[in-house]
Amino acid sequence: MSNSLKVAIAGLGTVGAGTVELLSRQAEIIKNRAGCEIVVTAVSARDRNKDRGVSIDGLTWFDDAVKMAQEADADVVVELIGGSDGPAKATCEAALSAGRHVVTANKALLAHHGVELARMAEQADKSLQYEAAVAGGIPIVKSLREGLAANGVNRVLGILNGTSNYILTRMRNEELSFDEVLADAQELGYAEADPSFDIDGVDAAHKLSILAALAFGSAIDFGGVYTEGIRHISLMDVQFAQELGYRIKLLGIAAKSDNGIEQRVHPCLVPEGAAIANVEYAFNAVEVDCDFADTIVHVGPGAGAGPTASAVVADLIDIARGHRVAPLNVPVDALTPMATTPMDQHRGGYYVRLMVVDQSGVFAEIAAVLRDHEVSMESVLQRGRAPGEPVPLVMTLHETRESSMNAALSEISALDAVDGEPCMIRIELLPA
Ligand code: HSE
Repeated sequence: MSNSLKVAIAGLGTVGAGTVELLSRQAEIIKNRAGCEIVVTAVSARDRNKDRGVSIDGLTWFDDAVKMAQEADADVVVELIGGSDGPAKATCEAALSAGRHVVTANKALLAHHGVELARMAEQADKSLQYEAAVAGGIPIVKSLREGLAANGVNRVLGILNGTSNYILTRMRNEELSFDEVLADAQELGYAEADPSFDIDGVDAAHKLSILAALAFGSAIDFGGVYTEGIRHISLMDVQFAQELGYRIKLLGIAAKSDNGIEQRVHPCLVPEGAAIANVEYAFNAVEVDCDFADTIVHVGPGAGAGPTASAVVADLIDIARGHRVAPLNVPVDALTPMATTPMDQHRGGYYVRLMVVDQSGVFAEIAAVLRDHEVSMESVLQRGRAPGEPVPLVMTLHETRESSMNAALSEISALDAVDGEPCMIRIELLPA
């Protein structure tokens, strides 16, 4: 084993600075565990003079991350630039072409180009490691690729976006509206460069597409992930869900179905006693249902400097140890196409909240539409009394096909007595 593993870091934001700090503060532990020192030799970022709270004195500075990936005195390039294309992609490609290992925290890049990059890494006989890309400090990539490697996976399900979970938690605990919590969530430093990625489900979908590939031995299919965010969730829905014994969570779910694999990110009602219902604020959770190990639940911080740097450095330690697994769990040539099931074939229970004019006969009209589409009602709640004015009407529906639910909802929303668009949230009946 050589005396050191030399590392070049592209991107010195929260995670980059956290990685430099962790490598310095934990140098002794890391050396003992890795079998050699792990030293940063070069860095690249936008602004050389910015105060990042860590010293970069003595490190070779590059204005251009791609040039650094080609020329730095480094065994590994750590890509922490972000973005699915542009400099992040060019830096990883340049590093692998130059015969260097790559560590990245970039879920967008992997969601869009993970298969190409994995192929490049295999051809270059180098590692492509990305523990920090999914669920921050939770070692879920290692869990799927190694700890659970002997299992067939039936379902991976998780809270994959801390920002959304933080918003939904504070709405429920403090009776605040979505807009009141959004700004606070973004100030916490967990939000994506484009914050709509958090609240519109895109960030969770990036991560889910990676988990699905690892779980099912299929090529990453980000385009096949049904994606819906939390903008339309109102405080009223959070409170009705609670009254019915549920909590609302933005979940990413990749699961075997009768005719393929469902990949979906959307808000869900989960029973309040389910493990994942109690994962609060910016925490993430990933539940893996396996054939031999049964259900394994991982919970922890999904973002932030410390947890994410911990994941980056764990990857570096694996490389220093000479420990390598196929980036996508199986060699790229053995990946099968992802047989994504279209969302309209999904079967499940549903929560529907309508605003209906408070007058006789309205409920009968709605019930008739549900009957016509063979959608069976489980419960109904109506609160308030405002003759002639809209009041909320909440229903839960037994398991049905999504196409039937959608057809019924489009007829219901066209009824004169129904005001505005219905709010429909899928129910995920996880064991309590
Ligand atoms: N924006 C992400 C989140 C950060 O809120 O979870 C980690 O990917």
